[in-house]
Amino acid sequence: MIHHLFKRKPLSLIHEEMKGDNRLRRVLGPWSLTSLGVGCIIGTGIFVLTGVAAHHKAGPALMLSFVVAGMACIFSALCYAEFASLTPVAGSAYTYAYVTLGEMFAWIIGWDLVLEYTVASATVAHGWSSYFQNFIGSFGVHVPKIVSTAPFDYNLTQGAFVATGSLFDLPALIIVAILITVLVIGIKESARFNNLMVGLKVVVVLMVIAVGAFYVHPSNWQPFAPYGWAGLSLFGKPVFGQAGPDGMPVGMLAGAAIIFFAYIGFDSVSTHAEEARRPQRDVPFGIIASLILCTILYIAVTLVLTGMVRYDQLDINAPVAVAFEQVGLDWARRIIGLGAIAGMMSVMLVLMLSQPRVLLAMARDGLLPESFFGAIHPRFRTPWKSTILTGAMVGTMASLIPLGILAELVSIGTLLAFVIVCLAVLVMRYMHPTAERPFRCPWVPVVPILGVILCLILMLSLPFENWLRLFGWMAGGMFIYFLYGRHHSVMARQRLGQQAANAGCEPMTP
Ligand code: ALA
Repeated sequence: MIHHLFKRKPLSLIHEEMKGDNRLRRVLGPWSLTSLGVGCIIGTGIFVLTGVAAHHKAGPALMLSFVVAGMACIFSALCYAEFASLTPVAGSAYTYAYVTLGEMFAWIIGWDLVLEYTVASATVAHGWSSYFQNFIGSFGVHVPKIVSTAPFDYNLTQGAFVATGSLFDLPALIIVAILITVLVIGIKESARFNNLMVGLKVVVVLMVIAVGAFYVHPSNWQPFAPYGWAGLSLFGKPVFGQAGPDGMPVGMLAGAAIIFFAYIGFDSVSTHAEEARRPQRDVPFGIIASLILCTILYIAVTLVLTGMVRYDQLDINAPVAVAFEQVGLDWARRIIGLGAIAGMMSVMLVLMLSQPRVLLAMARDGLLPESFFGAIHPRFRTPWKSTILTGAMVGTMASLIPLGILAELVSIGTLLAFVIVCLAVLVMRYMHPTAERPFRCPWVPVVPILGVILCLILMLSLPFENWLRLFGWMAGGMFIYFLYGRHHSVMARQRLGQQAANAGCEPMTP
């Protein structure tokens, strides 16, 4: 039984399965994949989290926080790219873990990706709703209070949940319903919609950099690191650097842990391998190109932002838009608001595009019911049932639950997936040294090891509650695995069939 939990999926089986009929439509080229990556990356992180990260954690040294978090992502991205070229199927980190570390780890990562994709989209939908209401509010249009937000919120100062006076968040529900409709209709339509949103947000980000540069006062970059350079805590106890008034670590590394959220999404490109025209070449390209582009934009935006306004005067809710008002450019506020709204829409779109593809891979392996999660729409060629389920989950969470406290949980879950993928590259090089790798991660084992170390440092820089929530989430996942997946997995059925054949009787169904 223990042996079965660590049973690996043979690489040859994956290549064999890719020839089957029940497949997705191959329509995505290298630039569409890059656009999906950028679509998923630029959003809440840069438009919202930079405020709190500069103000409370890092000061102007936030630009270095972006460099550190970006390096952790680039090392991980190179590992993702190698795997994507080796196993170009929809499951991303889940599949990579199945071939290298065995079924139980694969399930853990698949369940972890639900955290990354579904919970993150709900968090972004919640943020989108605030930005959207703020935007239409500037034209005098208001959503009735009763349907403007989740019914309760978590008050950090009181450490308790408080009623908001609303019943649910209608704008969040509507935007999720619209995006899910586009996603069900087709991958081409989704990619087109995404391209439009990406175009809009990249233009806005470039405008922020180009116009903002004229308002930079280098004196605002002094002191450069008011909270220090560190910010590492070990399960809640600051071990390297200072602690803030709330006991949480502060400093450049603590800032990197917060704004790591801004990078989440480049890995989603690997879930589209089955829809890529030339997955072995174009998926690695899409992963790396989108990440490099966004890293450059992020560093430039932070440089300009902290140069325009002193770090301790940056707004916490809408730092970029308010910074332009603070320097007298009122006209820019609405344009930046529009960029943020478009940006968050594409983030949600791509996250909700990725989730059903991971579930599809898990269903094909028997870890989830295939009739539901593996169903491909006969006309649209999309995993429509699980797309609608993903939308229902995101819509329910975004409209009813206060999600601010979950952003860090999403980050820690994603970092865990990155650690596993970096380790899996090392395992794979050892197990299958001669397998064909159209893209090879350079400087192995240095790059994967640095990826693991940097991701672990960022995990340790997050407040301790996130570790507890992560363990709680994983415990829920293990419960489902032992209840369903372990008995229904294709590998388990093959094993039973083999045993039955050896014993000379009919194979049993588990
Ligand atoms: N990286 C995405 C964002 O910042 C999740 O919204």
